[in-house]
Amino acid sequence: MKNNTNKSDISKAKSWESRLDGGPDELAQLFVESLSYDRRLYKYDILGSVAHAQMLCRQGLITPDELSEIEGGLAEIQSEIESGSFEFNIVYEDIHMAIEAALVAKTGDSGRKLHTGRSRNDQIATDMRLWMREEIENIQELIRNLQRAFLELAGRYASDVMPAYTHLQRAQPVSIAAYLLSYIEQLERDFSRLADSKKRLNVLPLGSGAVAGSTLTLDRNSTCHKLGFDSISGNSIDAISDRDFCAEFIFDCSMIMTHLSRLAEDFILFMSTEYGFIKIADKYCTSSSMMPQKRNPDMLELIRGKVGSVHGALVAMLTILKAQPSSYNRDLQEDKLHIFKAADVVTACLRITEGIVSNTVFRADAILDGIDEGFLDATALAEYLVSKGVPFRSAHGIVGTIVADCEKAGKKLSDVSLARYQKYCESISEDIYNVLGAANVAAAYKTVGSGGVSQSIESIEYWRTRL
Ligand code: ARG
Repeated sequence: MKNNTNKSDISKAKSWESRLDGGPDELAQLFVESLSYDRRLYKYDILGSVAHAQMLCRQGLITPDELSEIEGGLAEIQSEIESGSFEFNIVYEDIHMAIEAALVAKTGDSGRKLHTGRSRNDQIATDMRLWMREEIENIQELIRNLQRAFLELAGRYASDVMPAYTHLQRAQPVSIAAYLLSYIEQLERDFSRLADSKKRLNVLPLGSGAVAGSTLTLDRNSTCHKLGFDSISGNSIDAISDRDFCAEFIFDCSMIMTHLSRLAEDFILFMSTEYGFIKIADKYCTSSSMMPQKRNPDMLELIRGKVGSVHGALVAMLTILKAQPSSYNRDLQEDKLHIFKAADVVTACLRITEGIVSNTVFRADAILDGIDEGFLDATALAEYLVSKGVPFRSAHGIVGTIVADCEKAGKKLSDVSLARYQKYCESISEDIYNVLGAANVAAAYKTVGSGGVSQSIESIEYWRTRL
């Protein structure tokens, strides 16, 4: 039962060509098409179509024979796309029309029934959610891998100490592991942010039609169940225009990129001669065409640079949505460009960052050599005075004076004699030397979640069970 309809109708690429006088010319076709980039949604488009067709059959809107023709045709189209033999012709505008046209060419009237009770408006909203659900899982997997790389590196340096900075000035000593663990925490928030987004987007728009639903008895709940959505959307006007999930997804990607750019910046500084804290692997460096000695951190710089396109995508997405009138407008087609860009950049950056982190060595001995520069133990000294009954504000003032004097004399805090210390404050005793020096401080932190050695070891244990 292939052709109940006129042959001339089939030759028309799109069913609305009978309504419009000729339709878009070549220039307009190139301008309006999204097939060149939405073709990557093919799998989800077919998935949604199969679920829709099965529902149509259960509702008696198509026969079981028609359903099997549709299913067979769509399966063939999928393998043609995957083998590269499918012809993507932009005359069909987008992936939905390209697949439907191919289906009609294969199955005639059965294919013509697939779009019953459906519009491209609820179709694209469904495809995007299906795609994004999976994309989120892929990104989450990459986040986990990167967290594991940080954990592995942290495990190697739990009892080594480095300076922690605020305002890029030396602040307090921490375990190197504590520094590395700080990225596991950031990435954990990125992971759970994506999980939240996934939960919120897992609502089925299909069945909302073009804007107002359908007069046919569609069973939306069965499609919802079949496609693994948690629920169906409650308002058809909202369902076909809602792209909150797109903006949210790009924000999630932007935040990941922000974290990666922080790491990139840290590592670029840390591998400079001035810091000399780390060595990243040669395979993640390039050299100079002129200066033969150079080992440049180009991958890290590119991570930092690529943040621009993801943050840009977020602004683009929000701007596309701003002040659009209610319901579907073709503006929305542009969303995909930015969503795909954000997903692709974040994927590439997470992968390369994992490689870099897994192949980085901290020069713990060199760090230790210079660790007593910069009065990293000054805060611990003030807290020592607190333990002797001095009010913190007074202790802060006393240590400020000691540091200023030491700086003038070119001394470290541990170089100051007990007699001299007692001139600054009577309550100081011999045990002061137990708290001075970066290594002593890193061993002395008491607060949960601090940058100390024992807290870092505990954290490493915790993350080992979690990751
Ligand atoms: N390619 C379109 C998009 O991505 C699909 C929806 C088109 N709907 C329409 N009414 N023209 O948004």
